[in-house]
Amino acid sequence: MTEVLCERPETGIAVLRLNRPEARNALSLSLRKQLAEHLNTLDENPDVRAVIVTGDRKAFAAGADLKLMVEQSPMGMHQLRLDRLWQTVAEFRKPLIAAINGYALGGGCELALHCDILIAGHDATFGLPEIKVGIMPGAGGTQRLVRLIGKHRALRVLLRGELFDAETAYAWGLVSELVEPDAVEATALDYARTISGLPARAVEFIKESVLQGADLPLSAALTLERKSLQLLFDTADQKEGMQAFLEKRKPQFTGE
Ligand code: CAA
Repeated sequence: MTEVLCERPETGIAVLRLNRPEARNALSLSLRKQLAEHLNTLDENPDVRAVIVTGDRKAFAAGADLKLMVEQSPMGMHQLRLDRLWQTVAEFRKPLIAAINGYALGGGCELALHCDILIAGHDATFGLPEIKVGIMPGAGGTQRLVRLIGKHRALRVLLRGELFDAETAYAWGLVSELVEPDAVEATALDYARTISGLPARAVEFIKESVLQGADLPLSAALTLERKSLQLLFDTADQKEGMQAFLEKRKPQFTGE
């Protein structure tokens, strides 16, 4: 069964649609593998400039598949090598836009936290409820969440397995834009369209600078930023962008 559908609605844009509606898009092993395979392929495809990850109206994803995990041993968990599959998401070089309706829980919330822009409907519900099934987050939930919303809000959510609504997620800075449930995918497409029309190398370097820089001391992060900016002066899109501005015309970016 195809648990992740890959659609190409417009030039430059791919949509990865999690497709286990009967299980609220819980992250089975095959779903995780299909997601990673698609991301590897899309990363290598120069025609793809931005990728939307989405689920359905009931769930973005309800977390790890508890049927897969209930009888696991520690070595069994180790041998699943889920970390490698998450690595593919974390290292994806192009903008990842999460389009979220319904539940984004546990590993599903962590998948959203891996994304670069989060568009959520008013119907979205977030949470890291792992503690309620006797475990804890294992794909960055304790680390990415605390960096995004701060220790005290993160621990409130993590220690109680508290679910929180889209308005709260937006107020805490977890969500980039909050829209009507029906408008989630169209808004995500709008973002993808805008980004895919802008210079490809600049998009890549901005994402890299933000993500890598967050883990570096400020001086090293500023060096990475400066060197990346300097490198962009080697692109045709820099020449075209600046010339077009000076000639008062629309730039024709080629991605070169
Ligand atoms: N794993 C496996 N199956 C799941 C699932 C999950 N995480 N979440 C939902 N399902 C299945 C249900 O078992 C049910 O299947 P059946 O019809 O065969 O019984 C089906 O999806 C529909 O679920 P509900 O009837 O519960 O639907 P609902 O709309 O009433 O509730 C929900 C939706 C609030 C998401 C609820 O299903 C739920 O709480 N799910 C579990 C959420 C959770 O605990 N996630 C964290 C998992 S652990 C994790 O993610 C940690 C990690 O990575 C290490």
